[in-house]
Amino acid sequence: MNKLLLIDDEADVQYSFRRIFDSPDLELHTASSGEEGLRKIPEVRPDLVITDIRMAGINGLETLRRIRQLDPKLPVILMTAYGTTQMAIEAMKLGAYDYLLKPFDVPKLKQLVADALKAARDMRQTVALGPQLEPQDYDLGVIGRSEAMQNVFKLIGQVAPSDATVLVTGESGTGKELVARALYHNSKRAQQPFVAINCAAIPENLLESELFGHEKGAFTGASQQRIGKFEQCNGGTLFLDEIGDMSPTTQTKILRVLQSGTFERVGGNVAIRVDVRLIAATNKPLEEAVASRQFREDLFYRLNVVRIQMPPLRERRDDVPLLVDYFLRKTAGPGGTPKVVAPAVLAALGAYHWPGNVRELENVIRRATVVAKGPAILVNDLPPEVTASVRQTAASAPPVGTPTTPAGPAVAARPDALSIPDLAHMLFRFARADTKLRVLPAVERELIIQALRESTGNQVQAARLLGITRATLRKRVDKFGIRRELNVA
Ligand SMILES: Nc1ncnc2c1ncn2[C@@H]1O[C@H](COP(=O)(O)OP(=O)(O)OP(=O)(O)O)[C@@H](O)[C@H]1O
Ligand SMILES: [Mg+2]
Repeated sequence: MNKLLLIDDEADVQYSFRRIFDSPDLELHTASSGEEGLRKIPEVRPDLVITDIRMAGINGLETLRRIRQLDPKLPVILMTAYGTTQMAIEAMKLGAYDYLLKPFDVPKLKQLVADALKAARDMRQTVALGPQLEPQDYDLGVIGRSEAMQNVFKLIGQVAPSDATVLVTGESGTGKELVARALYHNSKRAQQPFVAINCAAIPENLLESELFGHEKGAFTGASQQRIGKFEQCNGGTLFLDEIGDMSPTTQTKILRVLQSGTFERVGGNVAIRVDVRLIAATNKPLEEAVASRQFREDLFYRLNVVRIQMPPLRERRDDVPLLVDYFLRKTAGPGGTPKVVAPAVLAALGAYHWPGNVRELENVIRRATVVAKGPAILVNDLPPEVTASVRQTAASAPPVGTPTTPAGPAVAARPDALSIPDLAHMLFRFARADTKLRVLPAVERELIIQALRESTGNQVQAARLLGITRATLRKRVDKFGIRRELNVA
């Protein structure tokens, strides 16, 4: 539940906010003066404050200044009537999130509120690292116990406290943004603002002014002065996402900030000094962009002081069961009962090559949770591209029935993708959801089926693999009803 505190002395404005933000996931609180607003902040603990500038008593600017002292991370949006924008600009210099012109455009207001709430969440929700997460971390964590991820965690721990520029690289969906936030939360600047900007989402000609601001009249359409992100998050951390998509002029300016800590607003000639820690990310191979002269080599070296390379998911498949477990819980939400997955599902997920990495895995789990009819996710609940590789393996194996009912866990088509502890973990969760499942016989049955498969149905060989006599194997095969399913002689 997000909480918004509106500070405005006009009843009309309070009324329209009530109508605009009449939504179950937003709680609106109001105050009629700056003083009242400041009193309410510790008690309401809002995620966002929107305040008018002109009010009786202390004005919006003074209110903002005092909020900054109380809580530097609480985003504040100022509202102003056209003509007093100079004040709004002062407000941006004081660290306001943004400002809004009255009368306000409702879709714009809603978008601004949504963006500010996201920024507030990014700053507040700390990103936990590693596999031993507490239940409250199921909201936000960087999961991984593979060696590749352990190295990432170590590097985060080493570089986060310093002010060093960090470059996070890796394929799409590997968790670069998550890592950027983990760096921020573990830095000395954790109590200062964190501002994220996606360079690829902003048209090239606007990006420079978004980052550095502009002076009035700097270009057609620049009717007012504007404060850029570098100035706005002075003292804090700026996350430049998709940095590979930046024009040469912007690259030059970024290089200068990194070298001298100064820049000029677009169309301005006063050097402005800032203290900002930069974290950059890209999924483009920057070395290639440097080679083809699309990216400045000197900037590349400045950014590349510390490099965190995110491994693709297919190179850390041993993390799949852990991630699956995490996303099942995350999808269920606090208090919800997470679904469980059949071992065959886990095997299929472990065998897939994940071109979209962790993001794709998260989407697959979300979708399967919705599609699954019972407490368990079955192979048929997975998208076809994920199961295709497993079907191929199954087609080349001896004809087997793949039981996928919760009472008899499915055959793991690629058992090499699962460690025994992971299989056990999943089966125990399975057993919790389905009290009919008896774990030991289920494991025994799996092993027998697997042994028969690996010996292409030859019972003598299978018995040898299992370390039992052929007679015992026969009995077990009968007991578990495997003969029918495996169709072996
Ligand atoms: N190690 C991880 N543990 C848990 N969740 C993860 C992990 N890595 C990524 N995610 C989740 O996957 C999704 C994508 O992650 P993120 O946005 O950080 O990727 P990205 O590398 O920035 O991708 P892109 O290059 O496409 O922007 C997010 O929902 C994130 O929470
Ligand atoms: Mg990203």
